[in-house]
Amino acid sequence: MSEDLEAILSLIERHNEWRGRECINLIASENVTSPLVNAVYLSDAMHRYAEGLPFKRFYQGTRYIDELEVRASKLFASLFEAGYADLRPISGTIANATVFTAFGKAGEAAAVLPLSGGAHVSHSEYGILGRLGLKPVQMPIIRDELIPDVDEAVSLIRKASPKLVVLGASVIIFPHPVKEIAEASEEVGAKLIFDAAHVLGLIAGGVYPNPLKEGAHLITTSTHKTFPGPQGGAILTNSEEIYRKVSRLVFPVFVSNHHLHRLAALGVAALELREYGRDYAGQIVRNARRLAEALCERGFKVLGEGKGFTRTHQVLLDVRGDGGGDRCARKLEEANIIVNKNILPWDDPSEIRNLSGIRIGVQEVTRLGMKEGDMDEVAEFIYQVVKLGKDAEEVRRRVMEFRKGFTRVHYAFEASSERIGKLTKLLLS
Ligand SMILES: Cc1ncc(COP(=O)(O)O)c(C=O)c1O
Repeated sequence: MSEDLEAILSLIERHNEWRGRECINLIASENVTSPLVNAVYLSDAMHRYAEGLPFKRFYQGTRYIDELEVRASKLFASLFEAGYADLRPISGTIANATVFTAFGKAGEAAAVLPLSGGAHVSHSEYGILGRLGLKPVQMPIIRDELIPDVDEAVSLIRKASPKLVVLGASVIIFPHPVKEIAEASEEVGAKLIFDAAHVLGLIAGGVYPNPLKEGAHLITTSTHKTFPGPQGGAILTNSEEIYRKVSRLVFPVFVSNHHLHRLAALGVAALELREYGRDYAGQIVRNARRLAEALCERGFKVLGEGKGFTRTHQVLLDVRGDGGGDRCARKLEEANIIVNKNILPWDDPSEIRNLSGIRIGVQEVTRLGMKEGDMDEVAEFIYQVVKLGKDAEEVRRRVMEFRKGFTRVHYAFEASSERIGKLTKLLLS
C-alpha cells in the first residue's frame, strides 16, 4: 500500500473514531444519520446522472430513480404540509441562490436580518444575495432574543418595498414572527422566504411553527441540521406557480446532476421524522433548555434568559468575560467538546477573530440518546474547561468515558444486519 493511500485511510479512520465516538459534538448545524439512512445512501445511485425532472430526463437508465424522486418529494411535501417539494438543490445555499434568482433582480431591495443578528452569509452582501446584485436592507433585531423587531421590520418593508423578505437564520433561539411580517410583505408584493436550514427537523416534529402555515411563500433549507438527513438542500412551497418557476431554475441553472444517492436517504430520514419526530424534536428543546439553565447556574451569560433561553436546538453564550468565542471554542476542542465561535448582535462581522459568542446545538447529542440529566454533565464539562481552567487532558478523558454511553442513533428504524448487508453488498464487495 502506498504511503498516500495509507495516510488517506488512516486519516478518515481517525476522523471517524474521534468525531464519531470520542467527542461531544455540539455544532448546531450538524447531525448524525441512522444506519438505515447510511445504507441507502451508499448506493449505485451515487454513480448516476438524472438531469431534469422525473420521467423527463436527459439520460436513460433512470426508471427507479424517477420513482424514488417522486416518492421522496411527496413524502417531504406531506411532512411539511406543503403542496410541492423540490429536493434537487444540493445544499441550502443552492436553494437560496435559486429562490433569490427567481424572485429578485440586480438593484432591487431584499429585506434580511443582519449577519450579527443570525442571518446566514448567503442572505448577505458577502454571499449569493449580494453577488446577484440584490441590495440587502436590514431588519433591526431584538438583541437578546435574535428575532426581528416586528414594528421596525414592518416599517422598513413598507419604506423599502423589497422584492424579497428573508426570515430564518443560522443563529436562532426563538421563532421568528413570520405571520406579522407576511402581512407587510404581501402589502408591498414581496416574496417571503423562510430559510429553515436550522429548524427543519423541529418543524417536522411540531415544536417550531410551520412558516408555510404562517404566510411564508417558500421554505428554503438544508437537510442535515435538525433534519437528520444526508447533506443537501430543498425548496418547499404551496404555490404551483412558484414551484414551476423555481424548478425551471434548479435545473439547468443551479444543478446539473443532483447527487442521486441523497434521494433514498432523504426519503428514509423523512419517514423517521414522521414516525419519531415529535419525541425527537420535543427532547431537543427540553435538552437545549436544560443545558442553558445548567450553564446559567454555573455563571455563564446565556442569551434569552428573560424568555426561558431557547425554543430551538440552540443555546447561545456570551463569553466576552471568558476570553472570547475563539479562545473558548479552542479550549473546549482540546477537551473533545466541539462548538463554534459565533457572531453576536454587538459584534463587527469583519472581526472574525474577535467574536463574543459560542453557539451550541443539542440535536446530535439528543439523537444519540442524551436526556436532561446528561445536559447537566455536559454543562459541568464546559464549566470545568472555560470557567475553572481545568487541565484539558483530564476533562478529555472524562468526556471520552461519558461518550461511551451514547453510541447508538435513536429516533430511527431498526434495520437487521442482513438488510443493511443486502443494501450495501454491491458497493462493498
Ligand atoms: C440559515 C442557513 N441557511 C443556509 C445555510 C447553508 O446551507 P448549506 O451549508 O447546506 O449550503 C446554512 C448553513 O449553515 C444556514 O445556517
